Amino acid sequence: PASTARLPNGGLAVGGVSLAEVAQRFDTPVYVLDEGEVRGRCRTYRAAFPEADVLYAAKAFLSRAMARWVREEGLGLDVCSAGELELAVTSGFPPERVVLHGNAKSPRDIASAARLGVGRIVIDSPSEIARIAAAVGPGGHQRVLVRVVPGVEAGGHEKVRTGTEGQKFGLSATDGSAQRAVARVLGQPQLELTGLHCHIGSQITGVDAYLAALGRMVELMAAVRDAHGVALPELDLGGGHGIAYRPGEPALDLTSLARELRTALADRCAAAGLPVPRLAVEPGRAIVGPAGVAVYRVLAVKHSGGKVFVAVDGGMSDNPRPALYGVRYAPRLIGRRSPAASRTATVVGRHCEAGDVLAVDAELPEDVRPGDLLAVPVAGAYQLSMASGYNMVGRPPVVAVHGGTARVLVRRETLEDFRGRDIGA
Ligand code: LLP
Repeated sequence: PASTARLPNGGLAVGGVSLAEVAQRFDTPVYVLDEGEVRGRCRTYRAAFPEADVLYAAKAFLSRAMARWVREEGLGLDVCSAGELELAVTSGFPPERVVLHGNAKSPRDIASAARLGVGRIVIDSPSEIARIAAAVGPGGHQRVLVRVVPGVEAGGHEKVRTGTEGQKFGLSATDGSAQRAVARVLGQPQLELTGLHCHIGSQITGVDAYLAALGRMVELMAAVRDAHGVALPELDLGGGHGIAYRPGEPALDLTSLARELRTALADRCAAAGLPVPRLAVEPGRAIVGPAGVAVYRVLAVKHSGGKVFVAVDGGMSDNPRPALYGVRYAPRLIGRRSPAASRTATVVGRHCEAGDVLAVDAELPEDVRPGDLLAVPVAGAYQLSMASGYNMVGRPPVVAVHGGTARVLVRRETLEDFRGRDIGA
């Protein structure tokens, strides 16, 4: 996780900046993002997959600075809306390095992609094919992939499992929908089918599911070659690479993944008599998750029903993940040194729901009290990007830390923002 260092006064520093100072200067709750950690993770991916395209999945977190870091580190971008696409491209991201996803692309998404000239559009339903061709216009040209359901079950939670039949993403190869989509795309002069795509799920910690998906995808590529005489040059295996949220939890081993995919792809293609396609992967969480720390201030401490509740000034509006997936974090006391022994506490948010819980078994000093600061590590992915306006609390800012300095990337949402959007009866 974000290279944290314990300070002599009991504080915690990230990117050479004390989190207590960040809290003091920018107020809480605040997301702190370690630029060096994001860049380092991008480099690790580039080094593990030198022959593949690494596309950062913007849904995990996107800002103009994030788009710049990712671009400078040589990654491409996976977006799934005109919003993500336009933010990236207007901050200088080369559109040809962008892939557009979405199971229900709006007219605006498609028009935006066609106008800006995105590198690839991933087809997720038959009705898109004609819409994309029309948006590109006669004489236009758009590269596309077809998203396939590989029939592989994987992922940290049922809500993020996307590799099996019976969920909304991709086209089935079992009932022939994927094959029909391939044939239709090949019949559209403006569309160039460059390959197949699959994304089996998220927060996956083992390599086997990826190998199973790869095997299925190569089979389909061979079937496409047999039916149409074309060897597709690209295979995008999506993202989903799992990370540890708490000490001791498993994470996907990137080096093994890269090595095993490379070998399996070469073997399977040789067996099928196919040229080896260029691989793409789409990590989101694994790039940005461990680079973020959320900092909260304790507002209340109470004993109830045999438990100690430590309530902080944020919660499910800035981090809906515990409520959605039942995941738990490992908050730590920062900002002061405590001589007290630690005990187990339930760290909760400020929202009006009992499910607004960040941690059920946080190890915090017995004397934790209002005014204390808590750091929640591994807060970089799917937190701000999924934050809401619940209870009109306002979404926290994102502060980047690097080389001992801190700067705001995304400002705090204010009560004026809420009032300003409400234009009256
Ligand atoms: N590619 C596609 C097509 C995707 O749908 C996703 C994530 C990714 C790549 C990146 O997956 P990652 O490497 O970040 O796992 N909100 C959930 C995660 C939802 C992921 C949705 N799709 C969470 O907070 O755990």
